[in-house]
Amino acid sequence: MAEYNYECVKIEIRDGIGWAIMNRPEKRNAMSPQLHYDMDDALGRLETDPDARVVVVTGAGGNFSAGQDLKKFFRELENDPFERKKAQRHANSWRWQRLYNYDKPTIAMIHGYCVGGAFMQLLATDFAIAAKTATFSLSEVNWGILPGALVAKVISDAILPRHALYYACLGDPFDGDEAARIGMINYAVPEDELEAETVKLAERLMKKSPAVLRATKQAVRQVRTMDFDQAYDYLAAKGQSIKVGDAEDSYNTGLRQFLDEKSYKPTFEPFKLGTLLSDQRD
Ligand code: COA
Repeated sequence: MAEYNYECVKIEIRDGIGWAIMNRPEKRNAMSPQLHYDMDDALGRLETDPDARVVVVTGAGGNFSAGQDLKKFFRELENDPFERKKAQRHANSWRWQRLYNYDKPTIAMIHGYCVGGAFMQLLATDFAIAAKTATFSLSEVNWGILPGALVAKVISDAILPRHALYYACLGDPFDGDEAARIGMINYAVPEDELEAETVKLAERLMKKSPAVLRATKQAVRQVRTMDFDQAYDYLAAKGQSIKVGDAEDSYNTGLRQFLDEKSYKPTFEPFKLGTLLSDQRD
């Protein structure tokens, strides 16, 4: 297993799940430049680490993140354009480009506070589960800045404009159930079930063919900005491309198990992974 040693991020790998944990609990996991450097590197390594098949992004000490560190990320870098630019680049890299395009399925597990800049990693992950007791807040309006970097953009893309405007303009906090109602997360669960529910979702994802899952999430994301003709063409090409390098030979394996062996029903469950690659994983 790869070694992961960071100052502001903790990485744990258990039973195929890579836990990428923002680790400044005394600051409610407010994101300092160092946290951004650490997380950008850690997620890059996890993406190619065969021991991690699903990655969960979360925070230590009972909170997701209180957003950008107002002291270390903003005030202290005000007069240091080089360091500011560097920190911004890494902050945006992991919180958006890296997670949004990640090869493996990703889940945000939210507890405690999820504020401001933390909405980027919340919405860049493929799935999000929160404790009902979690507190979400687009707090920027309360202290005179915009939901910056890409926050305003990603909330506008993710939820209905009325909800985005309401919470961005008022800055009111909301809980896990409300986050689920407006589509900010998939579902909210009792706090003491949060980790178990997250593991349950990760285990379901691990039963799918990694190659097909990767192509499916890329396809769902990419078609959003295409017109119908482009989407039709792209999906046809993408469908062909997943057959190359699919160690599970998913299409033929699935057809054989359904039509010949009659051992599963694709409406309800994935085909049984049965190739060399999956045998090695067991
Ligand atoms: N930036 C810098 N420091 C932060 C921080 C942030 N975003 N959020 C919390 N902290 C620090 C506090 O200054 C405090 O530091 P101290 O122990 O040196 O005094 C420590 O973390 C604990 O915070 P505290 O406010 O005492 O904890 P709390 O549990 O009572 O409240 C919050 C937690 C998240 C509600 C509150 O800290 C808060 O509103 N933070 C600002 C969140 C925000 O607006 N973020 C948007 C940034 S884009």
